[in-house]
Amino acid sequence: MQDVFSIAIDGPSGAGKSSVARAVAEKLGAMYLDTGAMYRAVGLYMLKAGVPLDNPDAIAENCRRADVRVGYGKDGQQCVYLGEEDVSEAIRAAEVSLAASSVSTVPAVRARMVALQREIAQGHSVVMDGRDIGTKVLPNATLKVFLTASAEVRARRRYDELSCKGMHEPYEKVLEELIRRDEVDTHREASPLRKAEDAVEVDCSQMTLEEVVETVVSLARQAVEGKA
Ligand code: DC
Repeated sequence: MQDVFSIAIDGPSGAGKSSVARAVAEKLGAMYLDTGAMYRAVGLYMLKAGVPLDNPDAIAENCRRADVRVGYGKDGQQCVYLGEEDVSEAIRAAEVSLAASSVSTVPAVRARMVALQREIAQGHSVVMDGRDIGTKVLPNATLKVFLTASAEVRARRRYDELSCKGMHEPYEKVLEELIRRDEVDTHREASPLRKAEDAVEVDCSQMTLEEVVETVVSLARQAVEGKA
């Protein structure tokens, strides 16, 4: 494979981007960056600081204080910190998902996160997943994938994931929240979720994780060879 390459994986919530991106990065020996985790950390910061999530000015003002850092554990797992505190678990709470969705609509937050994401990726082969990776963060990515699945399939997967963790949310509530987040992510003014013109769309509603990973790895090899 080419010395340094970059793969952008965008798509709506719950399409499986993180699992796919992590596995693809491992197979290709690249660094993995879950950018959603960074917006979640900013959301958690705002919740802890009591910043009203319906006030974009207050969020913009306070985001400079959110010291978001990304590190990698011994097992290669990505960890997210607020200052010295490891918040990798805390950012997965449902209220943090909604907070992340709110803060990600604020241009000042996006500007900081995009700069940080580019800085982290600098000089490395990277697989990044998010909403604006192909359109904004890595416009010259070697490969751009837009990973989708129907809302019902995505909600069912999230519901199963939560149930496995002992968090028993009704399926209808999970679906409702997912649709609400899709709405915010696709309709916000700042970098709305959309497929980059040169992205390959992969609908994984009927695919297993392994099939999606194989598909993306094969697309990546073709893209890298094509650009070599
Ligand atoms: O992928 P996720 O569910 O962890 O993302 C959390 C929120 O952050 C989600 O509402 C969309 C937003 N996000 C974003 O706006 N841009 C990104 N690159 C990644 C996530």
